[in-house]
Amino acid sequence: MASLRLLLLLGISFYTTGGTAAKARPVVAQYHYDYSRIQETEQGWKCWKEGYRPPPATSNKIHEQGNGTVADIERILRFDQSNTVLFLFSSNTDNQNLHMTFTIERNKLVRLSLDNAGLERLELVLPGRDNDCRLADLSVPRNRLRDLPVGVERLTALRKFDFSYNLLEEFQLDRLANAVGLKQLLLSHNRLESFLTTEQVNFASLHKLDLSNNRLRALDSSYWTMPQLETFHVDNNRHLSSVGGWTRARFPLVKGFDPAGTNNWNQTWLKSVQ
Ligand SMILES: *[C@@H]1O[C@H](CO)[C@@H](O)[C@H](O)[C@H]1NC(C)=O
Ligand SMILES: *[C@@H]1O[C@H](CO)[C@@H](O)[C@H](O)[C@H]1NC(C)=O
Repeated sequence: MASLRLLLLLGISFYTTGGTAAKARPVVAQYHYDYSRIQETEQGWKCWKEGYRPPPATSNKIHEQGNGTVADIERILRFDQSNTVLFLFSSNTDNQNLHMTFTIERNKLVRLSLDNAGLERLELVLPGRDNDCRLADLSVPRNRLRDLPVGVERLTALRKFDFSYNLLEEFQLDRLANAVGLKQLLLSHNRLESFLTTEQVNFASLHKLDLSNNRLRALDSSYWTMPQLETFHVDNNRHLSSVGGWTRARFPLVKGFDPAGTNNWNQTWLKSVQ
């Protein structure tokens, strides 16, 4: 009886294995990729400064495009950061089935853009106490990121921070307080229900803030010092009725809000700030 059961089990497992083997040649999904990468062999310099260009004598640019498997995309994203200053990746295929993680090393990259890369996790490796003073452009639009990376407050050179078309539900603005030169903060098309700061934040150079297409019901600008803010998008937050603390005097370059827009503006408030 026991041996019969064993035979039966063996038979079943044999059958199952055979079944898998027969199905083992499915069409392997292909993902489009297009990337540019600038390698710079001279890595003696440390902090990024406005106007930096990779010197032609010590740098070279790679540009490739094509279609690849998940393994190919993983390999492309695992490039050697120790000699890379720029990496711009984009894809035009549906990447729902790509589940990528990317880890940023400290003081290597100046520009990183991963657009539609199936990114679900973004991590920073910042050993010791030093901050990152190189990464000026962190753009990861059209991915599935739910959180800001741990340590984002240590990216002090940021000029552009683009997390649009992701899955963020909240944003603590004071986490970027050390990025004093920030110029663009792009967070449209997330699921933001809050965009908060618990203390005064001073972004002297910020000229573009995009919070459109989120789920904000309340927004308070009282703690924001952004004298250069010029482009402020907050449309398509359908339940948003006002922006607390907003006056024309505090944001002199912002043209105003669209009264017929896709918010739920309190018209009395709106008239008082236009
Ligand atoms: C990648 O695949 C798409 C669709 O299958 C095709 O249109 C495109 O030409 C391919 N691109 C390259 C660079 O092979
Ligand atoms: C609309 O805004 C005005 C002026 O800010 C305020 O007094 C009023 O209470 C607001 N109405 C609603 C329904 O919130």
